Amino acid sequence: MQRIGVLFVCLGNICRSPTAHGIFQQKVQDAGFAELIDVDSAGTAAFHIGKAPDHRSVSAAGKRGYDLSRLRARQALAEDFHRYDYILAMDEHNLSSLRAIQPPDPRAQLSLFLDYAPDQPFREVPDPYYGGSRGFEVVLDLIEAAADGLLSDIQQRLHG
Ligand code: 4NP
Repeated sequence: MQRIGVLFVCLGNICRSPTAHGIFQQKVQDAGFAELIDVDSAGTAAFHIGKAPDHRSVSAAGKRGYDLSRLRARQALAEDFHRYDYILAMDEHNLSSLRAIQPPDPRAQLSLFLDYAPDQPFREVPDPYYGGSRGFEVVLDLIEAAADGLLSDIQQRLHG
């Protein structure tokens, strides 16, 4: 069976999308799907290529049991649309940057990540970079909820 590929995308790939990457990877592992689902993350901007996630994201996620420390930032590429099934943007700005590089006939379905968390009071994951520590907790809450919704969606797909 072809593996299902999931790519999370934000602006810098150092706060929101690595958080989603680490959380979703953990949930995939806990559900016993590590052999079936590939997880990755990228940024629409090139500022932080090769860098580890922001220490505030690593620390906040670590307190909830998720290890982001080994992730490294990269930039989203047009070819990602052929390599992944789901490309999940953290906000509308990321979504429009991705639409601008989307090739014809993509394999990937492109959407906002929080489409998988319809009960949450936000449609976008707010950028925590210039704010205080509370922003990083909001990011974690939203991403944990959407990761559960996404995993249910994929489980339904796997089981027909
Ligand atoms: P992210 O957050 O998109 O969630 O990784 C940001 C990281 C860096 C910058 C902006 C947002 N920046 O302007 O450098």
